[in-house]
Amino acid sequence: MQLLSAYLKHHDTDTELVELIEILMVACKEIALQLREGALAGIHGTTEDTNIQGETQKKLDVISNDILKEVLLGNRLVRGVASEEEDNPVFGDPEGRFLVTFDPLDGSSNIDINVSVGTIFSILEAPADVAENSVDLFLQPGRRQVAAGYVLYGPSAVLALTTGTGVNMFTLAHTGDFLLTRENVQIPHSTKEFAINMSNHRHWEPAMRNYVGDLLSGSEGPREKNYNMRWIASMVAEVHRVLTRGGIFTYPWDSRDPRKPGKLRLMYEGNPMSLLVEQAGGLSTTCYTDILDVDPQDIHQRVAVALGSKEEVETLMRYHQETP
Ligand code: AHG
Ligand code: MN
Ligand code: MN
Ligand code: MN
Repeated sequence: MQLLSAYLKHHDTDTELVELIEILMVACKEIALQLREGALAGIHGTTEDTNIQGETQKKLDVISNDILKEVLLGNRLVRGVASEEEDNPVFGDPEGRFLVTFDPLDGSSNIDINVSVGTIFSILEAPADVAENSVDLFLQPGRRQVAAGYVLYGPSAVLALTTGTGVNMFTLAHTGDFLLTRENVQIPHSTKEFAINMSNHRHWEPAMRNYVGDLLSGSEGPREKNYNMRWIASMVAEVHRVLTRGGIFTYPWDSRDPRKPGKLRLMYEGNPMSLLVEQAGGLSTTCYTDILDVDPQDIHQRVAVALGSKEEVETLMRYHQETP
């Protein structure tokens, strides 16, 4: 089994990018340890604080965020970081080459019930010609990511990573090493499995209600398929299932807060997951356009997401093009 750093070096990955990914994994290993301790370490439950998303922060949201900030901002390669749990970006070495955005703990509503959660990360290059630190450094479309991935803290801890030449998966061994366990992941183009939070049905656009209605009733054309449904409420676990066996995962626009195009955040959920899914032969869209082409205006901006098996996402998009 190949070690993460050996695999990346063998495939001519930029040496400074390898170094950055390695220190990211130092942080994720520490987060995995804290999660394993859980209730024993008294770190379940919530804090008294609310983040910029309007969510009450879980203790482990804050712990994970602090671990990632400490590890990353202590490294000469990192110009700055942006996090779901930070109102504004935090800057490090002014000579740093990379910017890192992250969701330190995705799916945190699952922590206290011991269901899989994860860390999502996205790596961009800092514009070399901009000396001034500002949030604008981060506002780059998802296609400009040099790497993206997640660590899923499930029955095993698994890193899914792309540096732009496909998706590979590495499992955390008891030795503390991430070892290659899946190479060149490919998402099946068709699927019988969908993931959506059905409780929001009454808030969706008509196109989404029509798509899901036909998918359930089998009335859209010769739909001989009987679909299966999953909803884990951890995007990392949903995307891992899609990468592993196909499917469509969607958190679409809904009318609960018309100012926000969806619940998920572009810079540290939508973009990194979209790069992984596209690199694995799937599609990742706003239901109308590729997420990776969205031009960011704000570090915490929301985005509607529909990603996964190519043919199923294309069907969903067709409903959005054809429904008045
Ligand atoms: P986070 O825990 O980082 O705030 O993200 C939670 C997100 C995502 O992981 C998941 O797919 C979605 O919220 C679940 O939303 P519902 O609780 O509305 O189902
Ligand atoms: Mn959150
Ligand atoms: Mn999240
Ligand atoms: Mn989170």
